[in-house]
Amino acid sequence: MIKLIKPSITFESIEKELKEIFNSGQFTQGKNVEIFKDSLKSYIGVDYIGLTTSATTALSLSLRVMGVKQGDTVAVSDYSWPASSNVIEELGATPIFIDIDPLTFNMCPKDLENKIDSNCSAVIFVDTFGNPSGIDKINEICKKYNIPLLEDAACALGSEIDNIKVGAYSDITCFSFHPRKVLNTGEGGAIATNNKKFSDIIEIKLAAGASGKAEVGLNFVDYGFNFRLTEIQALMGWKQLLEIDHLIQKRNEIKNKYISSLKSYNFIPQKINDNVKHNSQSIVFTVPENIKRNELINYLFSKDIESTLGTYCLSGTKFNKEKYNEIQKVSSIVDSNAITFPCYEGIDIDRVLNEISNYLDKYS
Ligand SMILES: Cc1ncc(COP(=O)(O)O)c(C=O)c1O
Repeated sequence: MIKLIKPSITFESIEKELKEIFNSGQFTQGKNVEIFKDSLKSYIGVDYIGLTTSATTALSLSLRVMGVKQGDTVAVSDYSWPASSNVIEELGATPIFIDIDPLTFNMCPKDLENKIDSNCSAVIFVDTFGNPSGIDKINEICKKYNIPLLEDAACALGSEIDNIKVGAYSDITCFSFHPRKVLNTGEGGAIATNNKKFSDIIEIKLAAGASGKAEVGLNFVDYGFNFRLTEIQALMGWKQLLEIDHLIQKRNEIKNKYISSLKSYNFIPQKINDNVKHNSQSIVFTVPENIKRNELINYLFSKDIESTLGTYCLSGTKFNKEKYNEIQKVSSIVDSNAITFPCYEGIDIDRVLNEISNYLDKYS
């Protein structure tokens, strides 16, 4: 079976340091956490990194840090994994679903400007499938209305816009290290910011509310959380970060093969703007009208090749439809038409392309 994802990390690559963790007995808050934080900081070129248990906990904490509270509204890209709007819901705020550009799959600036209201206390821009295209336009709108920009970069570690690494661009950026991502720690996430006011609050909230030491014990100046990554997860993280540029380059080579092979069948690849470098987290196309997307997925599965849909129209989930009844048009169409193909180093790309062509030659 050619799986949709194949984690790149090997046991051998961490074996030596793993033994050290077991020998030292230090499974949390040790040197691997510090190394991972520092290496992420210098890889991204950002002042502050906080590690978290997932992108979901990172996003949730970031909204709190931005002061989002019950009764506020938060604008969010409508095409994403539901965590992007769940974190708004969980705070008692109301999501404003912003439709997407049909080519980049990212938040549409015009729709954002039409829907921003005076209660809007944050904008969550999603780098869909790792692609930050168009965030520059959204940033301009946020600046104009003085609203903080939270970048959901769950998929975008290693991507760049205007030669700035994702993580150093927005007011706060959140990453995921779930196994489907370029860097995998099992579960895990990070918060990146250059804003000192935000990083001071994040640091305290991530330390269960503690700031510095009391005469004996800790000084709890706020309430906070335990979203810690373990030493083993942090070790997996910093080891993979050493290889990430190589992995991204390999993914881009494979992505380009898909694009050139599927052009003649009118498959349209996700658009990456000229000022963007894409980490090729996922390779996603919209299928032409004459192709039944789900049939193609099932056909490939019968040939031992995993593929899947893109991601979800958030306003169209059962929960959001029943609560808000505001389905976004473009996002809903892309939800039905997008397909993700396997894309990572070592994949038998010729076999995958061959099977896709077999299906298309027969049914298109
Ligand atoms: C855009 C986006 N945001 C948030 C998340 C949630 O990430 P995590 O599973 O680390 O909480 C994901 C996960 O796939 C995602 O794709």
